[in-house]
Amino acid sequence: MYYPTYRMRRLRRTPALRRMLRETTLAPDDLIYPLFVTHGEKVRNPISSMPGCAKLSIGNLLAEVREAKDLGIPAVLLFGIPTHKDAAATSAYDSEGIVQMAVKAIKDDMPEMVVVTDVCLCEYMDHGHCGVVQDGEVLNDVTLELLAKMALTHAEAGADIVAPSDMMDGRVAAIRNALDEDNFTDTVIMAYSAKFASAFYGPFREAAESAPAFGDRLSYQMDPANGEEAVREALLDIEEGADIIMVKPALPYLDVVKVIKQETKFPLAAYNVSGEYAMLKAAAANGWLDEQRCVMEAMNSIKRAGADLIITYHAKDVCRWLG
Ligand code: PBG
Repeated sequence: MYYPTYRMRRLRRTPALRRMLRETTLAPDDLIYPLFVTHGEKVRNPISSMPGCAKLSIGNLLAEVREAKDLGIPAVLLFGIPTHKDAAATSAYDSEGIVQMAVKAIKDDMPEMVVVTDVCLCEYMDHGHCGVVQDGEVLNDVTLELLAKMALTHAEAGADIVAPSDMMDGRVAAIRNALDEDNFTDTVIMAYSAKFASAFYGPFREAAESAPAFGDRLSYQMDPANGEEAVREALLDIEEGADIIMVKPALPYLDVVKVIKQETKFPLAAYNVSGEYAMLKAAAANGWLDEQRCVMEAMNSIKRAGADLIITYHAKDVCRWLG
């Protein structure tokens, strides 16, 4: 059937028709809002390359989480900025560590808020790598023990979901075993399965003070050129017990989001990372792009590709714009 019998524009004629036939929908329940928590009192240190984001001490964090909750955001993802860093990342698995305290504070105040914690050592290591370093190499197997300890302290503090972002092999199984042994059988694992060695993490590393002091992350994070390997990563994490898998970054990797969803049918999150946020914010601040329309288009694209959940610094604005 061809024009003039068939006209694609017929179904685009009115707002109601367009709404009825929209294939992709976006709702606050799709969103996870990342936040940076730091020590101190009444701290709100703005992150210059991420306008609207700041490092918050626990009191201010609670206010921010409450605002997110009131807007309908169901979940937050916490990153810790510790005062102490060393070569064994000891503050990462300290039960009185910054993330552990923040989780407790949120859960005491807002028990229904889903709290996700990032499980990675880079913010806590004096060298900024995601694992234990020996002779310039990031060691896999010894790192697993530390990650498992870290995840367990997060679960003990009350985290609903632990999210390993280190890209060591075997971390999901190591974390699942450690959680189950201590009866945290219901703690969810959201694995950063296909995490690429991306330059789009730049603003985050400024914020988290976690840029590697030497070398790069290419021996553990994925080569941005690889899509099939991303599927294998996701399948392996599922074998090891991941409940939710993740692709990160989001927008430059929507093909990966789509293929992983098709191949696994598992709950899938996509992380709209700091550099993706910074680009739109910078263009909007210059008056070059319409922020609201571009952000909503980006969010819809991520869902259209197949993500169930979007981790995004735009979460509060998205909720406001959804109305
Ligand atoms: C920790 C981690 C990073 C991000 C999330 N967890 C940085 C990195 O791998 O260097 C990046 C998030 C963002 O850019 O918004 N490993």
